[in-house]
Amino acid sequence: MKVIHSISLPILILILLLNACKSREDIKYQRGVIATEAMVVSVDELASQVGYDVLKKGGNAVDAMVAVHFALAVVYPYAGNIGGGGFMVMRTHEGQVHTLDFREMAPSEADKDMYLDENGEVIKDLSTRGHLAAGVPGSVAGMTAAHDSLGSLPWAELVQPAVELAKKGHAFSEKEVKELNKKLGAIAQYSTQPNEFTQKTTWAAGDSISYPDLARTLSLIRDQGAAGFYEGETAEKIIAEMEAGNGIMNLLDLANYQARWRPPITGTYKNYDIISMAPPSSGGIALLQLLQMVSAYPLEDYGWQSPEATHVMVEAERRVYADRSKHLGDSDYYNVPMDSLLDPAYNLARMADFNPERASLSKEISAGNFQLFESDQTTHYSIVDAQGNAVSVTTTLNGGFGSCVVVGGAGFFLNNEMDDFSAKPGHANIYGLIGAAANAIEPGKRMLSSMTPTIIEKDDELFMVLGSPGGSTIITSVFQAFLNVVEYDMSMQGAVSVPRFHHQWLPDSIRYEKGAVGGDTRSVLQAMGHRFDGKPVPVKGCVNAILVLSNGKLEGGADPRRDGVAMGF
Ligand code: DON
Repeated sequence: MKVIHSISLPILILILLLNACKSREDIKYQRGVIATEAMVVSVDELASQVGYDVLKKGGNAVDAMVAVHFALAVVYPYAGNIGGGGFMVMRTHEGQVHTLDFREMAPSEADKDMYLDENGEVIKDLSTRGHLAAGVPGSVAGMTAAHDSLGSLPWAELVQPAVELAKKGHAFSEKEVKELNKKLGAIAQYSTQPNEFTQKTTWAAGDSISYPDLARTLSLIRDQGAAGFYEGETAEKIIAEMEAGNGIMNLLDLANYQARWRPPITGTYKNYDIISMAPPSSGGIALLQLLQMVSAYPLEDYGWQSPEATHVMVEAERRVYADRSKHLGDSDYYNVPMDSLLDPAYNLARMADFNPERASLSKEISAGNFQLFESDQTTHYSIVDAQGNAVSVTTTLNGGFGSCVVVGGAGFFLNNEMDDFSAKPGHANIYGLIGAAANAIEPGKRMLSSMTPTIIEKDDELFMVLGSPGGSTIITSVFQAFLNVVEYDMSMQGAVSVPRFHHQWLPDSIRYEKGAVGGDTRSVLQAMGHRFDGKPVPVKGCVNAILVLSNGKLEGGADPRRDGVAMGF
């Protein structure tokens, strides 16, 4: 008090301002949880704990992945799943890379026009709610395929913690009940049988829930592997649910589902080697295109979220998302021009018309009507084991609680991933993303994703493991989190915590979080012709990441936007 009395008002204001700046700066460099041997970062404490326990007893990163995945299916029903799908990128401690696609696929009776009315218009909610919205789930096949090839501990031991969690139950957090209460009406409407979620009309933070039906389903998976889900009792329950709700998935669709090992998407940014996911995710290609496009510009000198750096990044994003809408889809069904898109010469040429003074315009036939997050949920977890094997997994039901259909008697949500297809050329999906023939619906085809599970090497050693949820903003969240570390010297925790911005070509505007592109950046960019979404949006991505520090220790970056927890030893 005495000090304050003795200084003048302008100096006091200056001190307060400097302190405010300093505390903002602190976020950037604040270290997350540090571990010396192994680490898991996921969106939920109980799931991270399950992964930690597996690592601690000598399980490898894939073992921990299996345990975390099934645990999330219990404690994080918004996005953790057995009724959804995802992608895994894995790097062994010896530098071998494995990438696994366990994305959902369109049922055999799906049709390109299945969401259109007789006038060719998209029928509202049909691809996002209810039985027709669901693709054939891939998660269980993904976990068994990864474990068969790369796991070390017995399968049953890894699924058991999830069985126990389902029996015992867990308490909802504040963030979780907020999302759940918003969807309870839809869950009651679209599920044909009563379920654990609809026991109450409103849930409060701290309320406990247990899942006897899910415990039974998980115990079948524990005992029979993939057959415990894609055949027999659970498959029959899924199909009974489909029949009761006029869905089209059938027993053969389930029996035929296969996870697929894909060649990784690889490339470089300065002295970093990037390893990411190939189609049917657009994530790897788009991330590398972005990095190639910005690599010619001195982002570090420009400064973090400075007008110059933001301008370059936004212009790159505009071009990459335009490419995504036209060229990306399931490469098993569509000839994705991967080599061209990943050609540095092509990406440099794409920036040839970049004007450092002016924003370009995203001209396109029909601008996407960007509906802001209707509580979308995906989740990403990153794991490094004591040997140095790394796993990066992004998994989802698509929207929060997927299709809002709980499989009667089996206790889990089915995804609404069919909305990630292009229901009609030029029609925006729930993320405002527009697609074309490359991503049209076909039986057995996998819908295009933005999921970007990524592993980065430096000098041939593991450097970073990261990924994010966030629909269309996944790619730009991963892009920024990586650049925050390598260009702006942030800690891993800082890099995931600082506010982000996003441009996706259409709509032609920059979305930003509170605190992002601050100072004079917004006004300078506006003067250059950039448009901004009216208000900052509260959530963009949720990057759960691990950084290998120069002393060899691991730093976890758990995104504070959700309830993420890093644990290591
Ligand atoms: O695969 C995709 O790109 C979307 N289904 C991801 C959805 C998502 O990230 C929602 N999360 N916030």
